[in-house]
Amino acid sequence: MGDTLAQQWHVVSHLDDLWEGEMVAVDVQGQSVLLVNVDGDVFAYRNRCPHQEWPLDDGDLDGEKLTCAQHLWEFDVSTAEGINPANTTLVRYACSVDDDGAISVSLP
Ligand code: FES
Repeated sequence: MGDTLAQQWHVVSHLDDLWEGEMVAVDVQGQSVLLVNVDGDVFAYRNRCPHQEWPLDDGDLDGEKLTCAQHLWEFDVSTAEGINPANTTLVRYACSVDDDGAISVSLP
């Protein structure tokens, strides 16, 4: 699961609690992390919009498109890239799902 021994993995949720098409914010060592389930693939992001730091879990998830609630910037949560505007990206964290469905995140 971990790439290096130095990485600290934290079990933060379970697939039973994050269905396809859902997103949820979890606390990892005092940092808010957004978990997103896109068609069974789970992604983890810093839960702050790159525009003005608004919590992304306040936004709207439609398939792979996450729209920030504050000024409606749009992101593709399967790639972390901005859709509108395009010249921005979400901060992505390493994320893993084990055979039992436990979701783990590693912060840098
Ligand atoms: S804070 Fe997210 S679009 Fe402005």
